Amino acid sequence: MDRRDFLLATPLLAQPPGRKYKTALIGSGWWGMNILREAIASGECTCVALADPDPNQIRAAKLELSKLTSDQPREYRDYRELLSKERPDIAIVATPDHWHALPTIDAVKAGAHVYVEKPISHTVAEGYAMVKAARESDRQVQVGLHRRVSPHSLTGMEFLKSGKVGKIGLVRTFAHANAVNTKPTADTAPPPGMDWDLWLGPAPKRAFNPAIHPRGFRQFLDFANGTLGDWGVHWLDQILWWTEETHPKKIFSTAGRYVRQDSTDAPDTQTVNFQFESFLCTWEQRHYGGNPTEQALIGAYFYGTEGTFHLGWRDGWTFYPLDKKKPTIHVDAQLHTVDGHNIQELWADFMQAIKQKRRPVRDIEIGYRATAASLLGMVSWRAGRSVEWDGRQIVGDPAAAKLLKRPYRAPWVYPDA
Ligand SMILES: NC(=O)c1ccc[n+]([C@@H]2O[C@H](COP(=O)([O-])OP(=O)(O)OC[C@H]3O[C@@H](n4cnc5c(N)ncnc54)[C@H](O)[C@@H]3O)[C@@H](O)[C@H]2O)c1
Repeated sequence: MDRRDFLLATPLLAQPPGRKYKTALIGSGWWGMNILREAIASGECTCVALADPDPNQIRAAKLELSKLTSDQPREYRDYRELLSKERPDIAIVATPDHWHALPTIDAVKAGAHVYVEKPISHTVAEGYAMVKAARESDRQVQVGLHRRVSPHSLTGMEFLKSGKVGKIGLVRTFAHANAVNTKPTADTAPPPGMDWDLWLGPAPKRAFNPAIHPRGFRQFLDFANGTLGDWGVHWLDQILWWTEETHPKKIFSTAGRYVRQDSTDAPDTQTVNFQFESFLCTWEQRHYGGNPTEQALIGAYFYGTEGTFHLGWRDGWTFYPLDKKKPTIHVDAQLHTVDGHNIQELWADFMQAIKQKRRPVRDIEIGYRATAASLLGMVSWRAGRSVEWDGRQIVGDPAAAKLLKRPYRAPWVYPDA
């Protein structure tokens, strides 16, 4: 181990009273700023640095930050330089999905606790490597699955677990949208000053397209996994919270692009069957048509012998009893403004976990399970057949198992576990 590696591997000393946690943001876009806002509002964190290959994103983030704090964060293009120069106590990783694994692994190795966004990774195997790195470095890693601390999810889960919905045999998860942009977008030069090659990182080389950055990467398969990898992870996490089971045993998905004609390449229509030991779960997504007959555009329906329970987002939760004499029960969501979610509560748990040296509520291993389940839907779709999963490996199908990884573009090296 050379001196730099030794320094990077040295565990943090306990926080002296009154000293704020040196916090760095890796990926200073929309969601990263929502998280950083809560870190600053906690009064326990000082923002020391921002990293982003796009200086325009950093400029916008700093402007926003100047309204919240007098902190003067230093700017970096490359997060590796940030980690070695700043030695942050906490790193927030809010990069596009294909850039979650390496910064998280490098940050924990550099001694930082990490708050990383969902999905934890772009491929299943990257996620496993992240769990391993977090454990080996004994750092806390919280995954941005804030539904775990949303007040309505907490009461909803209590209701579900109380048995009032009866025996549940099917859970239907879904995300539908009302409109699609059908116009293709031409490739252009990247925004001024942007290091597009660094943004691409381990992903295949391609020309810049304004539909990809910022925020559009979700529907490009080189960088993300479409709506299943985006919204699906949230709802699978809720299902894995509800059930005693840790993973689906068998997964089968079909998908296609039937409506979208824009520059994206992820499916606009997808269904997945997740077979658990004691129930079946389905995922259904569509980027068009909404669903006027059911109202809820997003969430999960739990079908039980006593009725149907909808767990939603802005629409809270509702139980529709089978027995018409019983009233419908509804609980509103309690969300915060700006982010429209409950990052505040998840950040508070993260801070407590660091201080108490315990795992956070959305620890990396829990994030791995929700991410792996979703991404296995993509693996099945690509393989064109169902896959059997033991929680760590695809069973009896070496060709499908290869899809748990993808090649990295040099010089980036796949984080093998
Ligand atoms: N938990 C939630 O509800 C929730 C909501 C929204 C977004 N997210 C997640 O947050 C992540 C970011 O999404 P977004 O909408 O903010 O995207 P965004 O495009 O607004 O921001 C991502 C930023 O990361 C930067 N980036 C790219 N490569 C980088 C690198 N190597 N180092 C540092 N920065 C790099 C980009 O230039 C961009 O500024 C995604 O993974 C998304 O799934 C989670």
